[in-house]
Amino acid sequence: MRLAVLVSGSGTNLQAVLDATEAAGAAGASFEVVVVGADRDGTRGVGRAQERGIPTFVCRVPDHDSRADWDADLTRLVAAHEPDLVVSAGFMKVLGPVFLEAFRVVNTHPALLPSFPGAHGVRDALAHGVVVTGCTCHWVDAGVDTGPIIDQRAVRVAPGDDEGSLHERIKEQERAMLVEVLTSLARDRSWR
Ligand code: GRF
Repeated sequence: MRLAVLVSGSGTNLQAVLDATEAAGAAGASFEVVVVGADRDGTRGVGRAQERGIPTFVCRVPDHDSRADWDADLTRLVAAHEPDLVVSAGFMKVLGPVFLEAFRVVNTHPALLPSFPGAHGVRDALAHGVVVTGCTCHWVDAGVDTGPIIDQRAVRVAPGDDEGSLHERIKEQERAMLVEVLTSLARDRSWR
């Protein structure tokens, strides 16, 4: 299964996928990352891909005349690598209609959807005072974190947690969940 991975930041979810590629192949569920794209310059995620010799690109909204132009350009850049699946792994942009027509896309989100969608899922859950939060892997549709849920993991909020400490514990679960989801999607291709 050829994966295109989209990132905006540190890329620890991407790293987990990269680290899992060999084990997945040995388990009969082979996937590989064929390209990594970012919506901004200088991300650690792109650096992680470059260290492995994986093709990368940056496609920034402000470099385009319109959001539609950005959508078309992002679609073209990803399509050139013929992925079976796109993984939005901490990609902080809403994907456009042309992109979503072209690819099946899974996203990871640091909250238990449908609660706390959007860019601040960890902060919003904390502010609400929840005792349990977590992460969700879901298919991407035209909404913001609204697509069909594939898997979820729960994480308890600890006394004294702030957004950073809670997000780090969620991300531990998120990385493992993402690798398990990709392993399962690579094994059973009925979703294609
Ligand atoms: C993840 O928690 C993701 O769900 C959120 O941003 C974080 C990205 O982490 N949108 P990383 O870049 O994979 O380390």
